[in-house]
Amino acid sequence: MSGSALPLPLVARDGRSAWLRAAEIADAEGLAAFLHGLSAATRAVFLPHAADEATVHRYLSRATAGVDLAYVLATDAGLAGYAFLWDFDQPVPLLGIGFADAWQGQGLGEKVLRRLLDDARHARRAAVELSTVPGNTRALRLYERVGFVRLGDVDNVAGDGRVVREHRMFLPLQPDARPPERHFGPPV
Ligand SMILES: CC(C)(COP(=O)(O)OP(=O)(O)OC[C@H]1O[C@@H](n2cnc3c(N)ncnc32)[C@H](O)[C@@H]1OP(=O)(O)O)[C@@H](O)C(=O)NCCC(=O)NCCS
Repeated sequence: MSGSALPLPLVARDGRSAWLRAAEIADAEGLAAFLHGLSAATRAVFLPHAADEATVHRYLSRATAGVDLAYVLATDAGLAGYAFLWDFDQPVPLLGIGFADAWQGQGLGEKVLRRLLDDARHARRAAVELSTVPGNTRALRLYERVGFVRLGDVDNVAGDGRVVREHRMFLPLQPDARPPERHFGPPV
């Protein structure tokens, strides 16, 4: 990891405080509660993996082992965000980010996104990519602002097994970076 020391204090537009920190195994219960607590509208655009205990534990284990890089947004009322680079040990990690409804539109997305990109640069990754549903204007604007370009569309498998046609967004970090062949969905 790189950049400012963790936990990284963040202030929402409305003045509330949150802290970005590395996800830990001890976050299993909180992360499951966070995923269960997302509204239907947010789950339609962000449900990276199932929220049962075994699945959450498996993804936290990947992160603590360094296969993935994962952060949580901690608040006084529990976890309010989850952001990660799946396959962080590979040349082109896959980015995901989502906040609880009450923490969206507060200007935190760009800060967390830039942190993940700094981490990828620091680790000399070739590129970062992601997929996002076409109607997710807020996310698309944010991704384009930090340099992602749309490469086309892919079928992404959501955390509940739905297959969703999404925009593939790519951000090269090295001059010769090329998008890899990949399955879009939770790593198995
Ligand atoms: C996407 C997400 C991470 C962005 O983080 P955020 O902190 O809410 O974003 P910001 O408040 O920084 O807003 C980002 C931009 O979108 C704009 N925006 C905010 N609400 C918007 C809306 N309803 N429609 C269009 N644009 C919107 C903001 O104005 C800002 O652009 P600007 O700085 O040029 O004005 C967050 O909203 C979220 O978790 N959404 C639900 C899950 C999700 O969509 N995850 C991504 C899946 S690919």
